Amino acid sequence: MAFKLDKISISGREVLPIIEGGKGVNISTGLTAGSFASAGAVGTISGTNPDFYDENGNYIPYVYDSKSTRKEKHDSLVEQSIRGCIAQAKIAADVSGGNGRIHFNFLWEAGGTKIIMEESLTKTKGLIHGITSGAGLPYALSDIAAKHNIYYYPIVSSSRAFAILWKRSYNKTAQLLGGVVYEDPWLAGGHNGLSNQEDPNIKQDPYLRIVEIRKVMNEINLQHVPIIIAGGVWNLSEWSKYIDNPEIGLAAFQFGTRPLLTQESPISNAWKQKLLTLKEGDVSLNRFSPTGFYSSAVNNTFLKELYARSDRQMKAERKQSEEFSKEITSSNGITKFYVSAEDYVKAESYIKDGFNTLLKTPEDTIIFETSAVAEQIKEDQANCMGCLSACRFSNWSENEKNTTGILPDPRSFCIEKSLQDVGHGGSIDNNLLFSGHHAYRFATDPLYKGGYIPTIAELVEKIVIGD
Ligand SMILES: Cc1cc2nc3c(=O)[nH]c(=O)nc-3n(C[C@H](O)[C@H](O)[C@H](O)COP(=O)(O)O)c2cc1C
Ligand code: SF4
Repeated sequence: MAFKLDKISISGREVLPIIEGGKGVNISTGLTAGSFASAGAVGTISGTNPDFYDENGNYIPYVYDSKSTRKEKHDSLVEQSIRGCIAQAKIAADVSGGNGRIHFNFLWEAGGTKIIMEESLTKTKGLIHGITSGAGLPYALSDIAAKHNIYYYPIVSSSRAFAILWKRSYNKTAQLLGGVVYEDPWLAGGHNGLSNQEDPNIKQDPYLRIVEIRKVMNEINLQHVPIIIAGGVWNLSEWSKYIDNPEIGLAAFQFGTRPLLTQESPISNAWKQKLLTLKEGDVSLNRFSPTGFYSSAVNNTFLKELYARSDRQMKAERKQSEEFSKEITSSNGITKFYVSAEDYVKAESYIKDGFNTLLKTPEDTIIFETSAVAEQIKEDQANCMGCLSACRFSNWSENEKNTTGILPDPRSFCIEKSLQDVGHGGSIDNNLLFSGHHAYRFATDPLYKGGYIPTIAELVEKIVIGD
């Protein structure tokens, strides 16, 4: 039987049930979103620090006054993000030619998210048809959508998360709930919504988890609201069990990784070439993000160094005791810690290998780094511009005191610095390269044969026929 994909109503229009996954920083843009919409699907602009341009259309990098406080830099980041959202929305609307639908995506736990959403939606009235948000529990998403009279799409990874959001706030704004995005926490690129009860090493069947979500939705009369399936979706012909199935109900599909390898995708050519060479297992689920969430990225030099840094870790005390009997001194000759006799042997070998700078973590452990890397960590923490609501790496927080009150964690990294760099042509080895776990399929999918890179319109055409 030939594969058939029917249009469904999304954000108030009949469109293909194909959604571009929002990707920050600067990866799903006005151009990519507009191209998805132009092809009759749904494009998603990432509202997380999007690019903006001068009057001649030249890209202006985000800048901060080095003498500013973190709070002042944060305020400047918010202002620049709003400019970016407006710029990208205009491009998307233009490129779409009035076709399809255009959504904004916001990382819920990003710094200043609510202000950025509110201001950007006010200033792009009529250009944006829906907002989507995940990574955290975006309970105020419905109120913001209601204020601007647009549809909203929470991203969840379990029926439990959706039930909480519904009970806490969405039940008041049911009419604008455009869809529920189920993002598979074991397969999707970017941040992943694994809960503490779920084992990162034991994948669960998405079918059963989606059926659970549908059951919860049907109990509250949301039969007409689609579930948008994200994470590991490649050829839709492999997902035919999910289409026209009463247990799943109305369904649409979200693609995050596949659009990376398109003509319109702004990632560097080096990154695109890398995608063509990935093998199964080259993407790893890790927990280094300063948000505290799990995330999925290519296991490159950057990630391997973070794993190694966490491995060079041991329990340590400031005071000598029977258990922590052996003294070790950091490269500055001043900072001292005491470790167990057993760990002392390892400590000596790290120091001998040049990892002679000791950095304390928030968990009564220390890690061993080279003095150059330790300096870089300190510099990155000092340059923090508050891009998150709470950051494990720098201890910035949006609260009144602007601190989480927890020691900064040197096992993490500045995600803003890394994503801005890689999103603007920086090293693909020494930066975080978010990716879905099925990215290895680029290497064997016939669409990309001989290194061919399709346009978004071609990609959508292929998806529609099930390829
Ligand atoms: C490079 C990259 C960046 C991403 N950034 C975000 C983001 O900023 N916000 C978000 O909600 N999801 C983000 N995602 C997740 C996608 O929107 C999408 O849901 C996911 O990639 C779907 O799974 P797939 O990677 O298997 O296609 C990102 C994914 C990738 C690959
Ligand atoms: S240190 Fe943390 S909060 Fe500050 S800019 Fe970097 S990732 Fe964002």
